[in-house]
Amino acid sequence: MRIAVFASHNGSDLQAIIDACKSGALDASVCVVISNNGGSRALERARDAGIPGYPMNVGVYGSEEALSDKMLEVLDDYKTEVIMLAGYLKKMSGKVLQRYHNRVFNIHPALLPKYGGEGMYGIRVHQAVIDAGEKESGITIHRANAAYDEGEIVSQVRIPVLEEDTADTLAAKILKQEHIFIVDVLNKIVKGEIPIGAEK
Ligand code: GRF
Repeated sequence: MRIAVFASHNGSDLQAIIDACKSGALDASVCVVISNNGGSRALERARDAGIPGYPMNVGVYGSEEALSDKMLEVLDDYKTEVIMLAGYLKKMSGKVLQRYHNRVFNIHPALLPKYGGEGMYGIRVHQAVIDAGEKESGITIHRANAAYDEGEIVSQVRIPVLEEDTADTLAAKILKQEHIFIVDVLNKIVKGEIPIGAEK
């Protein structure tokens, strides 16, 4: 299965996918990496792994329309089958969502539908969980749609929040688990246990 990964910053989830493809733990390949951020570590990781990487944003292409068209072109050129949004902080283009209907997934570091939506990213998510006194948090992978962090939930893992946890310790604990969970879920997609429907 050919997976396109979108990431805005560090790309440690991307790295977990690259490593799993390389070791054979995941029967797939990362066909292309797209980032809105030309200076992202994610694009460096792609380069280091010999995977084509594209900085793509309105600044580069002039308009949302032109950006969407170029994204579709690149995704099609690399024969993308599934798109994984792994720390991608931009809204996904409607045209891409339409073309890759049911095939675009997002990972979020909390138990959606709680602690998601616009502005809920990075340490803010974990701080909100701690502030609310939650006894558990977790990770969600869902199908992406035009809104932030909505769309059908395909898999979740629960992670306890301990008395001594801070937003930072919780963030570190969850990110570590993400690296395992994202590969597990992609494996289920590859095996057809999570359906993606026919290509459009
Ligand atoms: C992860 O916590 C992911 O759930 C969220 O963004 C973070 C990306 O981390 N959507 P990294 O850039 O892969 O290290």
